[in-house]
Formats: sequence, C-alpha cells, structure tokens
Amino acid sequence: MKRVAIVGFGFMGKTHYGAWRKCRGAKVVAVCDSDLAQLTAKVTGNIKGAADNSALPETVRVWDDFSAMLDAGGFDIVDITLPTPLHPDMTIAALNAGYHVLCEKPMALDLKSCDRMLAAAKKSRRCLLVAQCVRFFPEYAYLAGLVKSGRYGKVVAADFTRFMSAPKWSPKGGSWLLDESKSGGLYVDAHIHDADYIVSVFGKPKSVLSKSRRSVRGYVDHTTTIYDYPDMLVTSDSSFAASDSLVWDAAARVFFEKASVYLGAAYKKPLTVYPQGGRPFSPKLSAKSGYEAEVAYFLKMIDGGADIKVLTAQDARDSIALVLAERRSARTGRSVRLS
Ligand SMILES: NC(=O)c1ccc[n+]([C@@H]2O[C@H](COP(=O)([O-])OP(=O)(O)OC[C@H]3O[C@@H](n4cnc5c(N)ncnc54)[C@H](O)[C@@H]3O)[C@@H](O)[C@H]2O)c1
Repeated sequence: MKRVAIVGFGFMGKTHYGAWRKCRGAKVVAVCDSDLAQLTAKVTGNIKGAADNSALPETVRVWDDFSAMLDAGGFDIVDITLPTPLHPDMTIAALNAGYHVLCEKPMALDLKSCDRMLAAAKKSRRCLLVAQCVRFFPEYAYLAGLVKSGRYGKVVAADFTRFMSAPKWSPKGGSWLLDESKSGGLYVDAHIHDADYIVSVFGKPKSVLSKSRRSVRGYVDHTTTIYDYPDMLVTSDSSFAASDSLVWDAAARVFFEKASVYLGAAYKKPLTVYPQGGRPFSPKLSAKSGYEAEVAYFLKMIDGGADIKVLTAQDARDSIALVLAERRSARTGRSVRLS
C-alpha cells in the first residue's frame, strides 16, 4: 500500500484526492495547504463533479507547511497540486527527500525549470510523472487507439477545441491563473492539454503557426494553432472567453479515411464513430475517470510494471517546449519550426 501526501488542496488537490480514494493500492495519509481554510472549502473548478469535497478523515494528517511535512515523512508519494510557479522547487525538494512525485501539469513555466526537475528525478532515482491527464481520459485514450490501429485508415484532418470561461475558482478569485507570469496563460495552462495530446497521437509537427487575441483585461483569451504535418491538417482552438454559463467544453473531431469520430461535451452525447457506409456507434468505455486512470498508471510506474508508453515526464517537458513555440509564433506572427 503506497501512502500519499497531497500538497495544495484547491481544485486539483481535491480532484486528485477523489482519484486516490478510488485507487486500490494507495491511500492519502497527509494533506498540506498553506491556507488551512482550503482543507474544508468546497470547490467545483471548471469540471463539475471532479473535486471530492468530502471531509478529510481524522487519519489524514494535515499540514500548512510543506517543508515540515517533508521532514516528518510517513508517506511514499508526494502529489503536487500547487499553483504552477511552485511546481519546480517543490518537486525537486520532494524528490531530493526521497519521495516519488506526481506533479500537476503544466510541468513548469520554462524549459530550464523542466530540465532541473528531470535531472532531480534522475539523480534521486525516484519516479516523476507530470499529470497530462487528457492522455488518460477514456474517450481520448480510445481515440488514440483508433489512430494507432489504423482501423479506419489514415487521419486526413483533426480539430481539437477547449473552451472555458475565465477561471475564478482559486481562493483569491483565480488571480494567479489569469496572470500569465504565474500560470503561463492560456497556451501554457489550458491549451497544453490538447497540444500534448496531439503530439502523443500524431508525433511532433514540423512547425506551428498560431494566432491569439488579448482581452481588454490584458490576458490572452483565445488562441488558434495550425500544426504542420505532411499529409493531414491538424488544428486546435482554446479559449478563456466563453461565457460563464458555458463554463467548460473540450472536444475533438478526427476525420479518418474511412470514418469520422466526434468526442466532447459540446455534443452532449458520448464519443461517436461515424463509419463510412456504416451505422454510427458509441463504444463502451471505461467508467473510470481520467484522473483515476492517471494515478493508477503512476502506481504501476513506481512498481516498474507499467507499459511506460502512455506518458513520461520528458513528454511533459516536450509539451512545454511546444506550447512555448506556439506562444512565440503568436507574438511574432511567424510560424515556428520545431527542432
Ligand atoms: N489537470 C487538470 O485538469 C487541471 C485543471 C485545473 C488546474 N490544473 C493545474 O493544477 C495546479 C493547481 O491548480 P488549481 O486549479 O487546483 O489551483 P487552486 O488555486 O484551486 O489550488 C491551489 C492550492 O494550493 C495552495 N497553496 C498555494 N501555495 C501553497 C504553498 N506554498 N504550500 C501549500 N499550499 C499552497 C492554495 O492555498 C490552494 O488551495 C495548477 O498547476 C493548474 O494548472 C490542472
């Protein structure tokens, strides 16, 4: 049984808490938040039902100081669900102290920090995983399987969208999430989900061409990117400009030679395969959430039993490089070649 300490008990901390509770082979034994009010606060974030707002049992030790918790120990895994600027130093501290680390995405705001994290994992010989959760969502995992299998031929075109209203759920009203110097902004914080998935399924594009719009409040609130692949057209749009009542929507449409596949909340129906000349159908998918699949994968990774092809910390680092290239493209108005 692996013992887990969660650091940062906001939206994602509570979401991971729910996933660990459902995971056989692990239990949460410690939770740390510098703002103790967060331990009992009810949050919803942008995904209804994701956060587990149940009361922490007395068996869970609570802390408001990360270093004191690390020194006290009594766990095997540190799960870092903190604001992004804290990811590198907290991850490195936990690895150096001998713990395996699951760190929320995005890995860090710059590549130097990602490389420091990778080096610390190597030196400590502990496992580091960055939670690029979309790869584990059942619909997206199924879609990745369809691409890999070639069942419906080659992909002709694909389009990924991620639309949400500006995030406001953090204790201080989402201020750090809307501050590009702290969250990386729309490209690094939200769009990275699709960018990371696109590369995981289609490989690295030759170049990217991106455009973005800046809201009157100063932050980028809409982006659109074209990924350059030889034989297919892949695009992705992300937004913080959706109205409050839309809240959140993520979708994908993939056009194969012999089928089209739609997935996403926008269609208010499950992933649907529309075969050429056949009847549309919705396959039965795992009832586990992507977060549950993600923590189960991390446990397998620690035990050395995972088929470590789904996601590595290096992949997460490469996805930071990709979204930074997209942001550069939008700022310069030119396409950026990827080395
Ligand atoms: N995978 C996903 O679907 C997903 C969704 C939303 C956010 N995220 C990522 O998760 C991370 C956390 O985002 P969030 O939305 O949960 O933020 P949040 O603001 O809701 O929660 C962060 C928590 O960390 C606490 N905290 C801040 N500094 C601390 C410190 N020094 N020590 C201990 N606790 C501290 C805050 O009090 C707060 O409770 C971010 O990197 C974000 O990009 C991922």
